[in-house]
Amino acid sequence: MRATQKDRLETNPAFGSRKLKLGTFQTNLDSGCVMSGLDGRLEITWPNTVTLAQLADDMDFEALVPVARWRGFGGATDPQGPGFETYTWAAGIAGATQVAGVISTSHVALNHPIVAAKQSTVIDHISNGRFTLNVVNGWNYPEMEMFGVSLLGHEDRYACAEEWLGIVKRLWTQDERFDHEGRFYKIKGGYLQPKPIQHPYPAIMNAGSSERGRHFACKHCDLVFTNIRTYDMATHTAHVAAYRRLAREEYGREVKVWTNATVIQAETEAEAKAFYNYYVHEKGDWVAARNVIDTMGAEINQRDYPEERRKAMSEMMISGWGGFPLIGTNEQVVDGLARLAQVGFDGVLLSWPRYIAGMTEFRDVTYPLLKQAGLRG
Ligand SMILES: Cc1cc2nc3c(=O)[nH]c(=O)nc-3n(C[C@H](O)[C@H](O)[C@H](O)COP(=O)(O)O)c2cc1C
Repeated sequence: MRATQKDRLETNPAFGSRKLKLGTFQTNLDSGCVMSGLDGRLEITWPNTVTLAQLADDMDFEALVPVARWRGFGGATDPQGPGFETYTWAAGIAGATQVAGVISTSHVALNHPIVAAKQSTVIDHISNGRFTLNVVNGWNYPEMEMFGVSLLGHEDRYACAEEWLGIVKRLWTQDERFDHEGRFYKIKGGYLQPKPIQHPYPAIMNAGSSERGRHFACKHCDLVFTNIRTYDMATHTAHVAAYRRLAREEYGREVKVWTNATVIQAETEAEAKAFYNYYVHEKGDWVAARNVIDTMGAEINQRDYPEERRKAMSEMMISGWGGFPLIGTNEQVVDGLARLAQVGFDGVLLSWPRYIAGMTEFRDVTYPLLKQAGLRG
């Protein structure tokens, strides 16, 4: 290890020992995770996004995950349209926080690996080793078209990501200059100094959900993400265990398995359900949500979304960008998080429909209960 470096297990909170790690999701984009005309949803300004990061810092959150998005989804509210670019956002957030894990999300097709490795290194230095890189292979072809870039076919997308990540890791770890002649990239005298703070290199996250994506994540990444759709604990336990088994048995590696959830909390369960009904069914931006599902379900993404499922999927997008709904009182939210820990998740990215108000209440009222429950010791 170089004198300027530190063991990433000691600097990056994503590798910490808390039973259930926590994060925020999509605090860099307008509307946050909801697609709704709800009053009090996130309005993206620098002071607002910093407020959320500092709330996360107060609770030692391990992962503040921004979403790489270049245009919105239309409808009445154009969710995720206005927003902050993820590397520059992460650099600013690293400077505005003390302990939280800071993530940048990188589209392989839009960020050259040398630029990605260099920008990541700067954020790792600003944050003193709290940085994680989220590698995203893309699915949202209209935003790629905005750049004049065509989304590669699904298999090639992952082949390209493998080459891209190999170059990034080499730049982070190798002192000698190198040439690279690959299928997607050609590099002459590849060089990167200084190296990141984290040794051997910063944590890497990926949220691929296809079979190819699961293999990519388990083979090359440290944090893998998966969405859950049912309330059946046995299914979740098997699902999480399958990730760990794939990583261990096929690639001889350990991975941290994370998911995302939406906190819909009120004084009573009935009030929480009524609030869900209000912001999803009365105020939901169904046009925008449908645009998301139709884009995800496009043929190039090799997903089969039958028409009858598209309405349910749209609802998941409206309520919290696919996050598992934790609906009810403080105690019920804490129980829900305890169950996610029990089925084997290492961490959960959280979001709130009214992000700032919800997260402030969570810090003041719910988080102490979570500590009492032993999930954050
Ligand atoms: C936690 C999480 C974060 C993600 N971040 C982004 C993102 O910032 N930008 C993006 O285009 N896709 C993002 N995705 C989508 C995934 O990276 C991936 O492209 C998608 O799940 C499709 O997987 P597949 O290619 O294996 O089918 C995210 C997904 C999850 C669950």
